[in-house]
Amino acid sequence: DNKPTALIMIFGATGDLAKRKLFPSIYRLFQKEQINKFAVVGVARRPLSNDEFQANVKDSILTFAGENEKVDEFASHFYYHSHDVSSSESYIQLKEIADRLDSHYQLEGNRIFYLAMAPEFFGTIAEQVKEQGLTDTNGYKRLVIEKPFGHSFESALELNEQIRTAFNEDEIYRIDHYLGKEMVQNIEVIRFANAIFEPLWNSRYISNIQVTSSETLGVEERGRYYEKSGALRDMVQNHILQMVALLAMEPPIRLTTEEIRSEKVRALRSLRPMKKDEVNQYFVRGQYAAGTLNGAQVPGYREEPMVDPDSNTETFVAGKLMIDNFRWAGVPFYIRTGKRMDIKSTKIVVQFKDIPMNLYYKTEETLHPNLLVIHIQPDEGITLLLNAKKTGTNMKSTPVQLSFSNKGTDRINTPEAYERLLYDSMRGDATNFTHWDEVALSWKFVDSISNYWESTKETSFPNYESGTTGPKSADELLEKDGHSWWPVE
Ligand code: BG6
Repeated sequence: DNKPTALIMIFGATGDLAKRKLFPSIYRLFQKEQINKFAVVGVARRPLSNDEFQANVKDSILTFAGENEKVDEFASHFYYHSHDVSSSESYIQLKEIADRLDSHYQLEGNRIFYLAMAPEFFGTIAEQVKEQGLTDTNGYKRLVIEKPFGHSFESALELNEQIRTAFNEDEIYRIDHYLGKEMVQNIEVIRFANAIFEPLWNSRYISNIQVTSSETLGVEERGRYYEKSGALRDMVQNHILQMVALLAMEPPIRLTTEEIRSEKVRALRSLRPMKKDEVNQYFVRGQYAAGTLNGAQVPGYREEPMVDPDSNTETFVAGKLMIDNFRWAGVPFYIRTGKRMDIKSTKIVVQFKDIPMNLYYKTEETLHPNLLVIHIQPDEGITLLLNAKKTGTNMKSTPVQLSFSNKGTDRINTPEAYERLLYDSMRGDATNFTHWDEVALSWKFVDSISNYWESTKETSFPNYESGTTGPKSADELLEKDGHSWWPVE
């Protein structure tokens, strides 16, 4: 059969990501019989027996996959190696395990090294797996690597050089889990499979595009990481800019990994760079204060564990991106993302320009602009906002919505982002992973903002209450241009 085979070595197998996302995703692939020849080696520091590890895996399936059909059989594919990241001896032992499982499960030498752990070890691990011969295999070898991919362009470059000593670019799968989301993948289809959108998809007909990703969660237990990151690096550099690239890119010649990537890269290359003294014109930052969310009182960012009580870290970003090319000249792409906002929602709103003349001015002073809304999460769907005749009245117009909901029609849960991405990495399809060129361009853009922000203390922090839509400055950013954010409820 054509099912992909793989030995998956998960570095960081006792961590949160493995438990919440990776084990349940591999389980779903197994349950749907998309994979049958596979084995997983959990690699982490803490000592655990294979039995204990398998018990953890089963536990994760019951909790996060909500099912347990064939869970024992599934868990029997899991093995554990207690690992010392910096000891060559430990990699030699891992190689022995890998070789043994390879022949036992007939994995054809196919190996995935999945790094789901603290990024400071990414480089060492890549170098060691090569040096100790783990990458000498007859099958494929692939490195799947979680964010954060660096902290700036410089550090990303250094990390990239380290992993490139052991893996070629086409063997590196940089995860951006937004690219695994059903509706993010749908952007391309909506744009390129419909005669009614692509002809209008430019500065003649589009007024502005708004990308919002709001979260209700606070920083949780991740204060140590988040203090050094902030919303700009945590969400904008990767997820948001990836969505912008998909919205802005030219139609690819073909739907191949290389063609799509090269169009995304061109879109990112067209992002208007900012000088230091221009940052304030284009970007605003926020930090949450205490407030009420879903009826409960929640603390402010500065009161969270491992956070500096005088922290200058942003938990909210709003920005205006200009894409200086023929298609988009003059069309702002407004983006915003924040923690502890009023709702959990990711949405894209494409606002079309007003029609040249309003014939309904006697009843409607202004017509509602046409909107195309792409609902990424929690709802998955598309809404098109049109104007139609108000029933029963004279010629009055009223906005109506044409809505499509994924859940409503298919009645199947769309696969989780991680399930899809893991499967793609086994099949060798890198389309929904980020190429180094995309990472590099995104960092260069983001660095110009973060360098400025780090050099200036934001005296208004905290400047938005938990449970709201963010600071006032985010609204003012659009008001300056005569626009406003469309609500995302
Ligand atoms: C992660 C960020 O990349 O994305 C988190 O590190 C954030 O801070 C998360 O909460 C959001 O992902 P999602 O899928 O819940 O929108």
